[in-house]
Amino acid sequence: MILLVTGGAGFIGSNFVKHRLANTNDKIIVLDALTYAGVLDNLKEFLDDSNLLIPTYQHDLKLIEKHIEKNVFSFESLKDETESKRLSFKFEGSSPRYIETENISGEIEKILANKRFVFVAGNIVDSALDEELIKISDTVVHFAAESHVDRSIFNADAFVKTDVYGTYALLEAARQSKNLERFIHISTDEVYGQATDKPFKETDPLNPRNPYSASKAAADRMAYAYFQTYNVPVVIARPSNNFGPFQYPEKLIPVMTINALKDEPLPVYGNGRQRRDWLYVEDTARAIDLLIEKGKIGEAYNIAGHNERENIFIVERILDITKKPRTLIKHVEDRPGHDVRYLIDDTKIRELGFRQERPFEELFDNTVKWYIQNQAWWEKISRMDEEYKAFMKAWYEKR
Ligand SMILES: NC(=O)c1ccc[n+]([C@@H]2O[C@H](COP(=O)([O-])OP(=O)(O)OC[C@H]3O[C@@H](n4cnc5c(N)ncnc54)[C@H](O)[C@@H]3O)[C@@H](O)[C@H]2O)c1
Repeated sequence: MILLVTGGAGFIGSNFVKHRLANTNDKIIVLDALTYAGVLDNLKEFLDDSNLLIPTYQHDLKLIEKHIEKNVFSFESLKDETESKRLSFKFEGSSPRYIETENISGEIEKILANKRFVFVAGNIVDSALDEELIKISDTVVHFAAESHVDRSIFNADAFVKTDVYGTYALLEAARQSKNLERFIHISTDEVYGQATDKPFKETDPLNPRNPYSASKAAADRMAYAYFQTYNVPVVIARPSNNFGPFQYPEKLIPVMTINALKDEPLPVYGNGRQRRDWLYVEDTARAIDLLIEKGKIGEAYNIAGHNERENIFIVERILDITKKPRTLIKHVEDRPGHDVRYLIDDTKIRELGFRQERPFEELFDNTVKWYIQNQAWWEKISRMDEEYKAFMKAWYEKR
């Protein structure tokens, strides 16, 4: 099967690609814009001089300027950079090939005749590119998104463009395809909004409360509408909070581990009593396998971790693993619209055979140890990505 995986250089996407390449005979095309959150290094073991492609529009300075002007590439600070300059550090050690968008499907078919992996550095908002890639794919797994709630509160622009418009552009391309078997849309448990004691079922109304979850809810319902209206074979996944290796160092577990290792304060929102249900990234990948195989078209599926923990528990355990004092904890002003709890009922995917495999504490401790052992991975990101540094400074400095 040929899988098109959008957002495959991100956290869940790259773990999913590795999982599929190791456990199936799939051929995989990754489409990823390499925004600040896209880390090409996550996939470097599969890259060589032939299978890293850039659609030529990204090389056309006039068009690049237009993209940047429209802020398609996500962040204000990019405005004075050219696209190739922005991407240059991402391509360190790899040799990309520039291909006209209209020739890209033919080129990919040639590569996939004797390889299993192709990386396309392109943007999902580009409908011509989406069409080229979907027409040679059997299944789409759509992860690409702006994914960080804090950033969406800072500036929601890129969230609407990528999460809403980008999803629409992909669905439109899917609608043109004659042979697409499934379009797996990766939504989130956050679309339901804040939970009480009753876990949300797939049929419950969506009630997002921050710009990220609102954009994801719009995309989720747009995917559903494309099934109802045009018969696009959509299946929607709503996973809970993922954890595991290769998570961009702005999310709770990597941020706290890195700060602890550097003896810097660990910023905890409010009293830290917010609860999240933690789902291991490999379990997410196995749940998506099930949806590819037997998810019912037109349906949504919750994917839970059954590991609800308070944020303060997570932070204290990280301090214990890294052998650092609790005095490093710094309670900071809570974020606006902060959902105290998410809780979902995953009976439906369990009926397809889904089970979480290993105990949370073991997976959690191994994850923290991964960040301790893979310092070079996150140091490279924090050293080289100016935009990342600018955001972390601007966001936490005012708290
Ligand atoms: N991380 C979680 O806990 C979690 C939980 C539930 C659902 N999700 C959803 O899963 C998906 C993946 O999340 P993640 O944590 O891996 O995110 P991430 O931020 O680590 O990765 C996102 C990837 O998408 C790419 N991307 C962004 N905009 C793009 C665009 N316009 N065109 C092409 N590529 C683009 C980025 O370069 C990056 O590689 C998202 O849709 C997210 O909403 C995440």
